[in-house]
Amino acid sequence: MKMIKTYIVTVFLGALMWSCQSDQGQHEDETPQSLREAYADDFLIGTALGYSQLIASSEKEQALIAAQFSVVTPENMMKWERIHPEPYTFNFGLPDSLIELASRNNQKVFGHTLAWHSQTPDWLFEDSLGNLIDTATLFARMEHHINNVAGRYKGKILGWDVVNEALNNDGSYRNSKYYQIAGEEFIFKAFEYAAKADPNAELYYNDYSMNVQSKVDGAVEIATKVRDKGLRIDGIGMQGHWGIDRPSIDLIEQSILKIHDAGFKVAITELDIDVLPNPYRIEGANISDSFENNAEANPYADGLPDSVNQAHAQRYEELFKLFLKHKDKIDRVTFWGVHDGHSWKNDWPARGRTNYCLVFDRNLDPKLAYDKIMTLKSETH
Ligand code: XIL
Repeated sequence: MKMIKTYIVTVFLGALMWSCQSDQGQHEDETPQSLREAYADDFLIGTALGYSQLIASSEKEQALIAAQFSVVTPENMMKWERIHPEPYTFNFGLPDSLIELASRNNQKVFGHTLAWHSQTPDWLFEDSLGNLIDTATLFARMEHHINNVAGRYKGKILGWDVVNEALNNDGSYRNSKYYQIAGEEFIFKAFEYAAKADPNAELYYNDYSMNVQSKVDGAVEIATKVRDKGLRIDGIGMQGHWGIDRPSIDLIEQSILKIHDAGFKVAITELDIDVLPNPYRIEGANISDSFENNAEANPYADGLPDSVNQAHAQRYEELFKLFLKHKDKIDRVTFWGVHDGHSWKNDWPARGRTNYCLVFDRNLDPKLAYDKIMTLKSETH
């Protein structure tokens, strides 16, 4: 009798264990375990990588980068002042490592950026006396730069933000040194040189505050002019440096539709959701806007209140619902940084604040925002 009892208990426990294991197996097979997996059929999921992610990052951070993202963008290392600081000096070491890392992780690379007014050395625009150069000299320097940079990574890169931030919010041209020297022609030249240097790379115009309708109209006008000149442009990037309650989902949607209706691909290129006070109502991401840090402007240095974390997560959920609704138009959604500690928003528009913009926290653990955007996908499975 005792033996029979023992036998029954053993069989029962065995069956229970097996059923738990097979449940687990099923769970592993069907539930996506990362953003890149969850959104694989929708659009690429990206992150920006900086020096610290490439050189000084922990095993945990390396594993997270590899597991979660299907595309990476160099945060600073391919910008002109870094990759080409002097007329005859190119720094290819870090960018080469980024390309290698991405290839090990089976990730694509999106280049950033070939023509931008910021993080660009003055020598590009000046002669030896410090006067602005003429148009032909500017174009020769741009061609040399683009040939060397885009040419080096030809075939290894998915695409380029060819021109970054050439517009003011009202849709007029930014009065950058590029523009002062060459007018809008510098934009066409940048696209021409990029297409020549890497004929298969996707070529994008990229800007912030693209929810402002006059600005997105300006971007569509630029892209249309590029195309009408017989040059190639594939898409328009909306940076996506947004806040918890601005801009409205409606405005973002209108911009996505405008870009698509004009025949261009859409990418969300630098997504982060700022949770900190914005006393000067700074919108967008104009690097030269800034204000002094103080206790009032930095209220969450010791931790984020749950209510703000909830609102941040809900905002990401609403945005990803919109992105999924328009997944046929959107090619890529890239976060501007891996985790909260890495985000540039800790230092802009005020230095040394503690911000909580991204979906991984300072310990590299997923936040509520991550759960929300993962759940969105398991609901639609
Ligand atoms: C930012 C970087 O994240 C910072 O590390 C750097 O100090 C300044 O630039 N728009 C862009 C990005 O196109 O290149 C900027 O990146 C953020 C705004």
